[in-house]
Amino acid sequence: MLTVNGLTAGYGGSQVLHGVSLHVAAGETVVVLGPNGHGKTTLLRAISGLLRPTAGTVELDGVNLTHLPTEAIVAAGVVHIPQGDLPFPEMTVLENLLVGAYRPEAWAERHERLERVFALFPRLAERRKQLARSLSGGERRMLALGRGLMSKARVLMIDEPSLGLAPLVIEQVYNTIHEIKRSGLSILLVDENADHVAGLADRMYLLEAGTLVREGPAEELLRDQALLAAYLG
Ligand SMILES: Nc1ncnc2c1ncn2[C@@H]1O[C@H](COP(=O)(O)OP(=O)(O)O)[C@@H](O)[C@H]1O
Ligand SMILES: [Mg+2]
Repeated sequence: MLTVNGLTAGYGGSQVLHGVSLHVAAGETVVVLGPNGHGKTTLLRAISGLLRPTAGTVELDGVNLTHLPTEAIVAAGVVHIPQGDLPFPEMTVLENLLVGAYRPEAWAERHERLERVFALFPRLAERRKQLARSLSGGERRMLALGRGLMSKARVLMIDEPSLGLAPLVIEQVYNTIHEIKRSGLSILLVDENADHVAGLADRMYLLEAGTLVREGPAEELLRDQALLAAYLG
């Protein structure tokens, strides 16, 4: 469904991604595992058009999205949940969620979508009138995920959702991603911790210095402790 072919991207003169090829099938959860600084965020940004790839293609169901504006890539259903905090701390939880549904086709379904998000995140329902900045780190991460679900996503790209969270909260966040997976959405998640994605990932890639060095069923790669230790340190 999502097919990335030979994607190359970087910043200024320095190339970070060196011809990355991957795919995500319908309903599949694919994880790209890689150590800090190896290009995970750059990969998601290059797919979502926030960063212009210098070579390669991004296709969704055979439609070429490469070089389209980010806006059009979102409209096609590729939705990127960035790492780190929310951009709208001075808006309420509800307003932040509605921003996720700003495109006309999602706006028309915003009530049903809100209900789904609130069912998935009861804490957000309780806090719908609070300013986003008053939420805890874990709740803000939930809000970022919820906002992604308010759009008409076909592939949800999630950047290191554990970043900066306490272990217990990390577990809650990944449990929620599990729920999202069960709803049938395709997921492309990048992470640097193999433990987080055990039981969640269907298939995995290992990213090393901007190149995918391994690909396989998640169970198989996660079983190979020697490989993971050598690779993630
Ligand atoms: N905005 C930027 N400008 C210049 N270099 C960057 C920028 N963002 C990331 N980089 C560099 O690109 C490389 C990959 O970074 P990144 O994709 O953020 O890795 P990861 O998400 O795996 O930690 C790193 O060497 C980083 O320093
Ligand atoms: Mg990153």
